[in-house]
Amino acid sequence: MLDRAIAGDVPRKHHLQLRGPGGELRFEECFTRDGFEGAYSILYHVDRPHTHQPATIAHGWTPAKPITEARPLAKRHYRTQAITATGGAQVDARVALLSSADLELGVVSPDRADPVYVVNADGDELLYIHAGGGTVISPFGDLTFQQGDYVCIPSGLIHRIVPSSAPQAWLWIEGQGIHLLQQWRNEVGQLRMDAPYCHRDFRRPDFRGPRDERLRELVVKRGQAWHGFTLEHSPLDVVGWDGSVYPWAFPILAFQPRVGLVHLPPTWHGTFGAKGALICSFVPRLVDFHPEAVPCPYPHSSPSCDEILFYCDGNFTSRRGVGPGSISHHPAGIPHGPHPGSYEKSIGATRTDELAVMLDTFAPLTPTAAALAIEDPGYMASFV
Ligand SMILES: [Fe+2]
Repeated sequence: MLDRAIAGDVPRKHHLQLRGPGGELRFEECFTRDGFEGAYSILYHVDRPHTHQPATIAHGWTPAKPITEARPLAKRHYRTQAITATGGAQVDARVALLSSADLELGVVSPDRADPVYVVNADGDELLYIHAGGGTVISPFGDLTFQQGDYVCIPSGLIHRIVPSSAPQAWLWIEGQGIHLLQQWRNEVGQLRMDAPYCHRDFRRPDFRGPRDERLRELVVKRGQAWHGFTLEHSPLDVVGWDGSVYPWAFPILAFQPRVGLVHLPPTWHGTFGAKGALICSFVPRLVDFHPEAVPCPYPHSSPSCDEILFYCDGNFTSRRGVGPGSISHHPAGIPHGPHPGSYEKSIGATRTDELAVMLDTFAPLTPTAAALAIEDPGYMASFV
């Protein structure tokens, strides 16, 4: 959730009457987090926003179904490049690859707009736009996004996504309470001056007033199942809103990297948090400047988290055999680190052009059958 924003018409105090030019009463909708204790926004609709009627609507991706058979503990590499041509609308075409007790993630390459409105009531969503771009259409306005953007869609938001005509490749994460890290906030909630991002880096929806796309169908994901509804009115019939809960976009290259005398741990690259997860951004940067520094990441053992790396671009100094679109999964229980030779070879390097999204999860991740189908069988052996 970001700073409070305001757009369009709102009354001078919340829960007061707001009327249109002809005296017609507007209908308030409170869009809250954590019951009524957390962040919220208030939207004002031309018509009642709660006229949903059950309907059979055949849309919605298949949620992650973790495989049940036990697998040997091993470092894994999933080549998502093999499934980037999923096609279809993102509401239907998402491919779930890994899941834990707290979250799930996968990829999608949509080539058409969502034909229905979508609500994900199972979690917040964070997209990483590896290729392509588009628009999230919601009652808050139109949020445009492009290659290299993170896009956050709050749980419960009615929306649809319209991809641009460019080829698309997105990583998606569904988690609980996706947020900007608390350590980057000051006591009034503002992003601190020493944070790796500032309020100006975030793109908010462009609100233009009420509209009607003539769509009246909605699918809601709740309890890992899809539920269909018809709507009596356009859900975009909003005349104004204010609050701190709305979709936003953040370009990964706006993340300000840190460099130290010696190698800094991934927490310095911490960008977003979620229940049981830390999301980090590795962006092009200078590297450690101690004359005896080893710039390559040191091998490490972390018994408390699984680590996912989604490789976006650049020369990945510590790994071989991976390329843009690769996902590595290094599980808790065994150490991981650079590929043979990378550690030594990094000495004397002054910069890295790697671009990657990292996810540490504190509950173990389990693959789906779709992940097994694109697994690189030689990855574990590539470390010797
Ligand atoms: Fe690691």
